[in-house]
Amino acid sequence: MRVFSGIQPTGIIHIGNLFGAIRNWILLQNHCECIFCIVNYHAITLPKKPEELKKQTYKMVAILLAAGIDPKKSILFIQSEVKEHTELCWILNTITKIPELERMTQFKEKAKEHKEDVNVGLFDYPILMAADILLYNIDIVPVGEDQKQHVELARTLARRFNKIFGETFKIPTASIQEDAGRIMGLDNPLKKMSKSAKSSLNYIAIDDSPQQIREKIKKAVTDSGKEIKKTPQKPAISNLLNIYSLSSGKEISTIEDEFKNSGYKEFKEKLALVLIEFLLPLQKKVRKIEKDQKYIKKVLAEGRRKAQEIAKDTIKEVKEKVGLV
Ligand code: AMP
Ligand code: TRP
Repeated sequence: MRVFSGIQPTGIIHIGNLFGAIRNWILLQNHCECIFCIVNYHAITLPKKPEELKKQTYKMVAILLAAGIDPKKSILFIQSEVKEHTELCWILNTITKIPELERMTQFKEKAKEHKEDVNVGLFDYPILMAADILLYNIDIVPVGEDQKQHVELARTLARRFNKIFGETFKIPTASIQEDAGRIMGLDNPLKKMSKSAKSSLNYIAIDDSPQQIREKIKKAVTDSGKEIKKTPQKPAISNLLNIYSLSSGKEISTIEDEFKNSGYKEFKEKLALVLIEFLLPLQKKVRKIEKDQKYIKKVLAEGRRKAQEIAKDTIKEVKEKVGLV
């Protein structure tokens, strides 16, 4: 089984990314052939300061390595270093209909949120993502629930291309992590945790200090009543229970039991503690890897080489089929 996933190099990496995406990647690399990509072309679909983008790209690599991505097992590379991604994107552009992109929930949300920055790249984002996947003959695409629609488009485009030009692409399948699929915002449990949230109280970033974690959990929205129970009537407490479970490795039911005689305050204090204990060793590792830029560059050069080896064969076949060479 071959697996592909991508992550944007953005300044804030939060526990939603960690539990929704990265954790799953680490498990997958033990029994699948994994390709993980830092999608910096996707990142520039919203304005980025060049220096920051570069810094954040390397930071993301350090975080992935610290979290457990093993370059001996997986291919880890930067999207812009493999030119085949934009080449395939262009070709796929020509078989995509405009309404198929206009329907994309993420595009609609981002366009509304960034009214002055609705550029063509933002519109085309899902096709670049389809190109990322289709270049590598992928079986499984592990993503958060919010990316399901994009993977669906990749499937549609693969089928369409195969129909027009003959069997070329494998049809990839999205794998959505059930429980952790969606970590919700601490300040609004009805909307997913997001680094683009207006307030930093929305998320726990991977490099938040113990002080910040305590503060954010303390201020996290709760539900009415006082029972600590995972139910649809209690979206805020359910989300906190979910986070507790993912950081501690305990089952939700065990945690519910543990706090059946406690109030929200006690539960939150313990949750902050659990999160701090969970993040501290990761933070230490990130700092250590960040100091070794030579190692990071070596990992990326190797990743690029391996990725390109596969991508160049695909693009060659695609170009031949379309009549471009
Ligand atoms: P992004 O932060 O949008 O670049 O997303 C990187 C990865 O993390 C993708 O697989 C997303 O689906 C996933 N992700 C982002 N936010 C969340 C969240 N709140 N809960 C779960 N997964 C998330
Ligand atoms: N759009 C994805 C996100 O924001 C990142 C991404 C880009 C991706 N290309 C991909 C994910 C290919 C999976 C496969 O989360």
